Amino acid sequence: MEDFSGYPIHAPIDYSFAAPNSLLSFLSVDSTALENQIDELSTFSDTPAPSVTRILYTEKDVLARRCALLLVFTLCGLILRYHKENACFHGIDWGMGICKLQYIKNLMGLSGLSVREDAVGNIFGRWDGYEPDLAPVATGSHIDAIPYSGKYDGVVGVLGAIEAINVLKRSGFKPKRSLEVVLFTSEEPTRFGISCLGSRLLAGSEALAEALKTTVDAQNISFLEAARSAGYAKEQDDISSVFLKEGSYSAFLELHIEQGPILEAEGLSIGIVTAIAAPASLKVDFEGNGGHAGAVLMPNRNDAGLAAAELALDVEKHVLGSGSIDTVGTVGILELHPGAINSIPSKSHVEIDTRDIDEKRRNDVIEKIHQSATTIASRRRVRLSEFKIVNQDPPALSDKSVIEAMEATLKELNLTHKMMISRAYHDSLFMARVSPMGMLFIPCYKGYSHKPEEYASSHNIGNGVKVLALTLAKLSLK
Ligand code: GLV
Ligand code: MN
Ligand code: MN
Repeated sequence: MEDFSGYPIHAPIDYSFAAPNSLLSFLSVDSTALENQIDELSTFSDTPAPSVTRILYTEKDVLARRCALLLVFTLCGLILRYHKENACFHGIDWGMGICKLQYIKNLMGLSGLSVREDAVGNIFGRWDGYEPDLAPVATGSHIDAIPYSGKYDGVVGVLGAIEAINVLKRSGFKPKRSLEVVLFTSEEPTRFGISCLGSRLLAGSEALAEALKTTVDAQNISFLEAARSAGYAKEQDDISSVFLKEGSYSAFLELHIEQGPILEAEGLSIGIVTAIAAPASLKVDFEGNGGHAGAVLMPNRNDAGLAAAELALDVEKHVLGSGSIDTVGTVGILELHPGAINSIPSKSHVEIDTRDIDEKRRNDVIEKIHQSATTIASRRRVRLSEFKIVNQDPPALSDKSVIEAMEATLKELNLTHKMMISRAYHDSLFMARVSPMGMLFIPCYKGYSHKPEEYASSHNIGNGVKVLALTLAKLSLK
């Protein structure tokens, strides 16, 4: 337990009048519980530890969100009753770790939040303020994890947000505006190819709501079928019901690991995000004649695989050619058909991720990639059967008033920080369209992310939660 004040954690002090400044001495993060929760949540994975793979609407994703089989609960209930004397009813740490099979919604419930879900499974846990008609302050992130990734990306911003609420509750603070924790559905594009699916919809993307009616995954399972199997998108549900109304939140603040090396290298506690880089993703398909790897002579080939390989190299060339260190491009998916060693690829599929803090420079790169795809196709006599821009999002700027609230908090807590841009995208990119937005980074080991070695120390997470809690408190009183 990290106790910042020396006060007992559950001190029965009544100071509901407390302004955030006087809260300072009462803030205590239960870092042990939080660390245990992060570890427990990482076990909801389709790949072995230390890697984490949690894909939208799969069994592991569903279990991570909410209560598992009724049967398991009944069993746990019986065991709990039996161990009543010893059971410590705190988060998942009860029943001596017997009941692992429930998660985020359960934790929200244990923190006294009223929980609701929308048609795509964005989950909201609300702590009512004493002026519940004012627009709430929201915080949150995601818990889905790309294949073979780590256990902190997104998770710190969801479990950390629930702990921030616990911190404020333990301190005796009473919010004026309600505080709402949001778990966003599918920040990662793994299953349906679209990033920030939940927050994009919350921000009112008509195009996405329409596209989801016909979107399928790599196994040809439709989005709607997958969502229904997870208990969402019921027959009567309209996807556009997810859209947030203007002014739904007075502010949105996301806590996240940096996913870069700067804070650790500079020995700083916190990064205040000023802007989020503009992401885009592309899908490209080439088609050739294929044929026998021995019998078709080299001059007679039109190899779709080599067209894809050449395009991948051109992506690198155009990105480097932008002349800015801020331009990045990645070919993370390259598939060949039929995928046999002795068959010339007759089809290839390439997925390209490119980003920049400067939207125009990023768009110029996309245009050059398009020109390359066309030129390569004609030179190699393959067909460019698809060149699709899946998303081409502008950057987002953090809101001045949210930044100022964070800066004031950091001063009060005497924590070092720097202003920085986020090169990764986050649900905040879309929340910025419907609410004043801010983001808060904590250092992570060597900047590792999207791989199993991802790590953030309990101390740094504790600092992040403390800053989040106090900033939420400030924003709630505005
Ligand atoms: C988020 O996961 C990103 O790819 O930036
Ligand atoms: Mn990620
Ligand atoms: Mn993330």
